[in-house]
Amino acid sequence: MIGKERIRELISRMTVREKAAEMSQLWGENPDGTLMGLEQGIHRDPFLDANAGSLLGYYGAERTIRAQKMHLEKNRHKIPLLFMTDVIHGFKTAFPSVLGLAATWNPKLAEQTAAVAAAEAASSGVCVTFSPMADLVRDARWGRVTESAGEDPYLNALFAAAFVRGYQGDDVSAPGKIASCVKHFAGYGAAEGGRDYDSVQIGEASLWNDYLPPFLAAMEAGCKLLMPAFHTMDGVPCTASRELLTGLLRDRLGFTGTVISDCTAVWELICHGVCADEKEAALAAVGAGVDIEMVSSSFYDNLESLLAEGKMTMEQLDNAVERILTLKDELGLFENPYKDADPEAEQKLLLCPAHRQLAREAAANSAVLLKNEGGVLPLRPSDKIALIGPLSHSRKLIDTWGLVNSDEKDCVTVKQALLGCGQLSGVLHAPGCCLKNDCEPDAVYPDDAPLMEEALALAEECDKIVLVLGEHPDMSGESGSRSHIDLPDNQMELLSRLSQAGKPIVTVVLAGRPLALTRASQLSDALLYAWYPGTEGGNGIADVLTGKTGPSGRLPMSFPRSSGQCPIYYNHLPTGRPNRSGAYERFKNGYVDQPPGPLYPFGYGLTYTRFSYSPVRLSARQIPFPSQGAQAGGDALLTAEVTLKNEGSRPGTETVQLYLQDVAAQRSRPVRLLKGFSRETLAPGESRTVRFSVTADMLTYYLPGSGHVLEPGAFRAFIGPDSETRSFAEFFLLQEGGDENGM
Ligand code: NOJ
Repeated sequence: MIGKERIRELISRMTVREKAAEMSQLWGENPDGTLMGLEQGIHRDPFLDANAGSLLGYYGAERTIRAQKMHLEKNRHKIPLLFMTDVIHGFKTAFPSVLGLAATWNPKLAEQTAAVAAAEAASSGVCVTFSPMADLVRDARWGRVTESAGEDPYLNALFAAAFVRGYQGDDVSAPGKIASCVKHFAGYGAAEGGRDYDSVQIGEASLWNDYLPPFLAAMEAGCKLLMPAFHTMDGVPCTASRELLTGLLRDRLGFTGTVISDCTAVWELICHGVCADEKEAALAAVGAGVDIEMVSSSFYDNLESLLAEGKMTMEQLDNAVERILTLKDELGLFENPYKDADPEAEQKLLLCPAHRQLAREAAANSAVLLKNEGGVLPLRPSDKIALIGPLSHSRKLIDTWGLVNSDEKDCVTVKQALLGCGQLSGVLHAPGCCLKNDCEPDAVYPDDAPLMEEALALAEECDKIVLVLGEHPDMSGESGSRSHIDLPDNQMELLSRLSQAGKPIVTVVLAGRPLALTRASQLSDALLYAWYPGTEGGNGIADVLTGKTGPSGRLPMSFPRSSGQCPIYYNHLPTGRPNRSGAYERFKNGYVDQPPGPLYPFGYGLTYTRFSYSPVRLSARQIPFPSQGAQAGGDALLTAEVTLKNEGSRPGTETVQLYLQDVAAQRSRPVRLLKGFSRETLAPGESRTVRFSVTADMLTYYLPGSGHVLEPGAFRAFIGPDSETRSFAEFFLLQEGGDENGM
């Protein structure tokens, strides 16, 4: 590292124009190898070739080495260029989508996938990834739920931290490590109506209790960068919010890393109606605390004049440039500007067998078994299978972000995997219908009728139907919002016609979001949800279908009964009129046309065996109010435990979940909140005590005006297999120096 002093000395020699270029991120390259300019306005500019600070979406060992060399030859300060890209769930080896990884409920596994992604990307010259997305999501209509770890703050926090650790390790300059940029600060997942980029209204209590914890976890894990979100919050675009990016982020949360705008978000301040032109936009964004403008040119074109007019200070620019150069220094780029870019290593690492093996394991572990009537799964060696469905033979197993760096052609399909697994006596295949893409309304598709006839005839010859359905990947991801989150009509028709064949149907669904599966579930005997499973998706799914790997995934989001139920999430606030019966009740919370709860709750997932739970046992019921020291030290206030038993005849992995409820507080608190879980693998007949420590910070919450508070009173500890478990025990946190009656 060259250190702070040399960085400051370097900055003192930079011109204002050089600083503005350092604060600009370009994308792409010209055919002659020079760097392409910024999106709005400049497309060729030799000054930017020499002085731009970073490049977006640019990778490949040979390309990055060449671009860096050219840049350094032209840059009079020898400041290296930074290559940043979206490595979201793998680089060349695509792991399951982030929502799928979250469904493993195994942050350690996610960390391993991030470490592999970092190693591959680093060999390809990448230094920064725009991951993790730490946005809590509650509305399955929003396309970007596929990039999130779901609806729970605790689960999101664990996964955000795991991704950061996987990318960065302890030392971001170490071989195979890249810097992590947490995004999108803050509340992006709460876009109105699930429409991407739409406005967000979040109150202070919800911001702190629901949306900030995953960001705090990523920061604690040391993430080097942060990206503000596109949307407006209470009318202020995050990119221009000094309250958010300086008041909260820097002053209150102590973040010292680099802040990079989202793509053209600075320029979009004009569209938001808060800035008249690019000059005002640059002023607002730098004033709020943005260090790098991604691909639009407001900074590059205006910072010089803003400074000359005295609207901006040199100190503001120097602080921003210092943060960017510090990031480059932490990556070790001043000593080795190529970092790990190495064509040979790249060749060896990308898609290597060990990486594929981890991808297969992750795909198998992410699949959630939602239904298994009559034990139709696992498939038996003697089963003759009719493999049907538009995704059964498709390589569309990677979501849109994955496709930035990965190739569909490297994917193993379900058909290849089932035919090749050697564990089934016969697999016959028919597509059944075509895969429609709602993003292409003018597309012309082949006639489904003959495809369906062929599939029905095939089903007659077989013992079981394995039907692989789902969404075209374009129908989720950024700007992939949907108003109806059903399976496409032609796929539902296929399922409905096959259900008349009288053969057991195993439906496998691949999608970027929870779909509304009410009818599909009724028509299927078994239902396996496999998200976008990635490069090794076919093998991972086949492993679960054949029982080579037992299903152990759990839902990271509630599954609605219909699109109209969105947003639906388990950790909602109680109403004054709760509906406890599940059936429609007049003047109770819910809908007249369907039950209030989800089709499948958060945390839900079956295994190939059966587990029983004892009642919840607590180590104490009246808990003295902990001292400040005990609170800070994370001391256990009590333990809560159950005895778990595998009652079936197969081994299985059960995810035992602890939820806490604050029965009465100064502010209404969620009906319950996940506070711990443990993945337990038990042999048939085996039983085990599963114990959780309850600490003070599990009981605290953010109370506007007071900060984080711990309040005495009654709490409930629920332990069970999902967020709808009814089994709980109650304990009482005594007042400081008091008894249960507050005396
Ligand atoms: C826009 C997306 O919102 C963001 O998540 C991504 O990192 C950038 N584009 C860069 O590709």
